[in-house]
Amino acid sequence: MKIPSETLELIRARLDIVELVGEHVQLSRAGRNMKGRCPFHNEKTPSFIVSPERQTFHCFGCGEGGDAFSFVMKTDGLSFTESAEKLAARVGVKVEADKALGPEEKERLRAREALDFAADYYHELLKKDPAADAARAYVGKRKVNAAMLAQFKLGFAPRNGGLVAAAKKKGFDESILMKAGLAAKRADGTVRDYFFDRVLFPIKDAKGAVIGFGGRTMGDGEPKYLNSSDNPVFAKGRNLYGLHDGLPAVRKSRRALLMEGYMDVIAAHQFGFTTAVAPLGTALTPEQAALLKRSADSVVIVFDADNAGLNAAVRGAEVALQAGLAVRLTTVPDGKDPDELLHAKGAEPFAAALEAAKDPSEFKTDLLLSRAAQPLTPEAKSEIARSVLQTIALCGDEVLKDEWTRRLAQRLGVSEGSLTRSAAKAAPRRHAPPVVEQEPAPSSAPRRPAALPPADLQLLDLLVKAPSCAGDARDDDFQSDAARALAVAVAKAAPYTGAWAPRLLDALEDDGLKAVASRMLSDENLHAEPESHFRSVLERRRKERRCMDFKARVDTLSPDEMREYMRLMTELRGSKAAGRA
Ligand code: UTP
Ligand code: MN
Repeated sequence: MKIPSETLELIRARLDIVELVGEHVQLSRAGRNMKGRCPFHNEKTPSFIVSPERQTFHCFGCGEGGDAFSFVMKTDGLSFTESAEKLAARVGVKVEADKALGPEEKERLRAREALDFAADYYHELLKKDPAADAARAYVGKRKVNAAMLAQFKLGFAPRNGGLVAAAKKKGFDESILMKAGLAAKRADGTVRDYFFDRVLFPIKDAKGAVIGFGGRTMGDGEPKYLNSSDNPVFAKGRNLYGLHDGLPAVRKSRRALLMEGYMDVIAAHQFGFTTAVAPLGTALTPEQAALLKRSADSVVIVFDADNAGLNAAVRGAEVALQAGLAVRLTTVPDGKDPDELLHAKGAEPFAAALEAAKDPSEFKTDLLLSRAAQPLTPEAKSEIARSVLQTIALCGDEVLKDEWTRRLAQRLGVSEGSLTRSAAKAAPRRHAPPVVEQEPAPSSAPRRPAALPPADLQLLDLLVKAPSCAGDARDDDFQSDAARALAVAVAKAAPYTGAWAPRLLDALEDDGLKAVASRMLSDENLHAEPESHFRSVLERRRKERRCMDFKARVDTLSPDEMREYMRLMTELRGSKAAGRA
């Protein structure tokens, strides 16, 4: 079987060789690369290098080298096709048996072309169209210079639309335009543009391909930014605004600057802070943090100084800490947005603010102290300690943790011992296994979680972290009706991207199920790539069931079935060993 190059591309795009190799080899950072002891020959001093940027490995001892595919071929003794299949399952890519691209992948590629076309179309309008006078004035008022306008390819969607017609002329089907989030259906079934009368900020993936847009009103209309909805090409939680433009500088300095909004990122780049990136209208997700971690060791977070911004900054810092990034936080003076400050006062005060960034523990302590009523009551002090200790616990560096705890004790004027003791009690369940046992419910909550089979709990726990995968699960993937009901509810709620979790809880009538779902939604058990993780577990479960089925009727298997049975057994054994290593 020959696997189409587009499929291999897709697998590569979703795969992280550092994570893959890290399951076999203990790696530590060495400059821009990771280093460890070669798994292919015996050595005492590490000469095995993995490059996160190039997604390749090489051993300077034995000369072995290649990409993720060759790594799996070598370690598992598989053919190229077999290793591609194994990696495809790992990252949730379907491998089509024939040479042609699967219809889904074809559509995805076509949708990307449509997005590219749209970005050019809107950009040209902003530059030249008479109807874009107001938009040009708006961009001018926001002080975006010509270089940034071109680099970020800002655009304009006119009041009367026009994209759908222009794209159709170029041969794009309406269905593709809808898939790309560029068009929507009216009640009467006709198809219209998605963006009207907005300044558009094309959102690019790390490789520079346009995957969606944020569209800002030029007045006070709601919403302030209309973003492309999540679709097969565009996942808000897995991309960062400015990442493509920031990558060269991020890689060079191994640092990134995390900001809150599109305008902030553009202003930062305009003033020479070229490592600036921003999440896409959501809090920083574990996937976004993992994406940064590929190219950076540390991140400075500078959000708006309003309450929402400060809370999001702390939450983002926690996610980044958990992803293994070193984190510092800062705010800009005078309660301004970074974008306003840069344009009003230039680079210097901004650079000074970055210089003054604090570690997450100090930042959160200061923030909570500033919000607490004075004089501080013992209860308030205890609450602040508890809250900051939760943040400290997410840091992977034990020495730092100690240092932060020591400073927290000093700052609050409490003994270090009491903090250490309460930290031990509140230890978060970081890479803890998914919930399988029930803890006794707190007495204030009369709801008891429904008792579900452990296998169902595990799968559901993964599913609530990757709700967009709900459609992938079938009835026979679960053992209990309760789990099936919950999976269906997740699938129904998932399209409401921003508010899907409350929607899910609202939709569940059974209190026991509601309790199960809410606990899963709030635990700290985060996975860097929940979708691919979910899909690979699902895949594995299905293979295991197929194996069990073969085993039950092993005497009556056809030669083909027997071959499949053998193949599955080898594969399952292989991936189990890899998982344990
Ligand atoms: P802000 O409200 O801080 O906007 O939201 P901003 O980027 O500073 O924009 P200006 O300066 O008022 O023009 C921060 C980010 O949150 C997302 C966008 O990504 C925005 O850049 N957001 C905000 C939305 O997605 N939708 C909204 O309605 C508002
Ligand atoms: Mn702003």
